[in-house]
Amino acid sequence: MSKLTRRTLLIGGVALATAGAGFPKLDNPFTLGVASGDPRPDGVVLWTRLAPNPLNEDGLGGMPNRVVPVHWEIAEDEGFRRIVRRGTEVARPDSAHSVHVEPFGLRPGAEYFYRFRADDHISPVGRTRTAPAPWALQDLTMCFASCSHYGEGYFTAYRRLAEDDPDLVLHLGDYQYEYAAKAADVRAVVGPETRTLADYRLRHAQYKTDADLQFAHSVAPWLVVWDDHETENNWADEVPEQPDPDFLARRAAAFQAYYENMPLRRSARPNGIDMQLYRRVQWGALANFHMLDTRQYRDDQACGDGWKTCTEAGNPTRTITGADQEAWLLDGFRRSRARWDVLGQQVFFAERDRKDGPEKELSMDSWDGYLASRDRITRGWVDAGVRNTVVLTGDVHAAYAADIKADWNDPASSRTVGTELVCTSVTSGGDGNDTVDQTQLRLNPHIKLHSRRRGYVRTRFTAQEMRADFRALPFVRQPGAPATTLKSFVVEDRNPGLNAV
Ligand SMILES: [Fe+2]
Repeated sequence: MSKLTRRTLLIGGVALATAGAGFPKLDNPFTLGVASGDPRPDGVVLWTRLAPNPLNEDGLGGMPNRVVPVHWEIAEDEGFRRIVRRGTEVARPDSAHSVHVEPFGLRPGAEYFYRFRADDHISPVGRTRTAPAPWALQDLTMCFASCSHYGEGYFTAYRRLAEDDPDLVLHLGDYQYEYAAKAADVRAVVGPETRTLADYRLRHAQYKTDADLQFAHSVAPWLVVWDDHETENNWADEVPEQPDPDFLARRAAAFQAYYENMPLRRSARPNGIDMQLYRRVQWGALANFHMLDTRQYRDDQACGDGWKTCTEAGNPTRTITGADQEAWLLDGFRRSRARWDVLGQQVFFAERDRKDGPEKELSMDSWDGYLASRDRITRGWVDAGVRNTVVLTGDVHAAYAADIKADWNDPASSRTVGTELVCTSVTSGGDGNDTVDQTQLRLNPHIKLHSRRRGYVRTRFTAQEMRADFRALPFVRQPGAPATTLKSFVVEDRNPGLNAV
């Protein structure tokens, strides 16, 4: 690909005419960068949000209380000589002046460049990509990441991820954290713990000012799903972590700000406390991405959450997806003709027992706290004859790779029916370290890798195999760390489970 250059922007600035609307001119509103997401064969979502003063306490980014026209263009070349679509979208105060454009009529499997204009200000240029045609089996480079706490480190991992030139990026949640600044933080988080719409908007805006994060958004389309911290630690449906009579209002505010700040389709626009986040994105005949929401519809964590030996976790009525999402996912397995079916989701899927002996001690916030739910999903893909299932996970601030077993009561000899890849955090938890929990590996022989380094996972999907490179950074509390490959695995077509390379 050609690099995005400053020259391009200047050429673009000359090429676009300015239009006065009788209002005072805005200061440069493109401080939050641009993004794209949810590609289809004929289109992709283009996103930006206007905010001349992104850290204004009211969360409105220094924008006037009026609608502002935003012009957009999408071109085949980064010099914008071959513009294929253009239009005008209205940025509204009640959406924090965010815009979500859904151009259509694009070519499948193609690279495009896009930019926005408001008054005479031109945004940075973003590069994006449409999904391949439904029958196409072209190779895919996909990187995924999770858990980016602004205060706990620099977002270097996002920059390294972008430098790998992915076709697609998945973010599996904890894109931001709700907490107020802490003494140990290396960067100052602004605002209180987020509770109101203004708080969440401001928090998103501060994150989006990060140059590394902007760069990562600008190189490829993203598929995003939230986990807990975009709203509140370990929330479950309508149940907050601690009793809070205002939790539903808080949840609605968090959802609204999340929608406003992510490259999501307008079909995801929240309605009060509800937001349709789970969805499927088809990448030609190569891969189906089933993007899950394991927070909004889950039963409350069993036995008071935490690591527990808990009979209630096995209650067959318990669900982590909710009934509708489960039915949708199982239906998706039955309909799939893809080479790879990928679950982009939040919390640890494979069993992680941390107690020696026959009794198990499991994390109640993960699928281990929803055993029947996990069994139904696993049986669903096995019974549907899904060709290759890969589960992608974030949340735990450590990298893992695991074989998914048919029977967790006998993981050592049970059949492997899928593969789980868990990315570590971008920054959460600070620098990380090289200590490996050997007890955990001994008690869970299906887990083939554990690392507490920071980083991300780079994957390469082809018709024959899926390769995963676990990328690690030596530090994040200072900027500029290099990324190296800690460990690589290959999963072969029709042969679930990890092969170390
Ligand atoms: Fe996290």
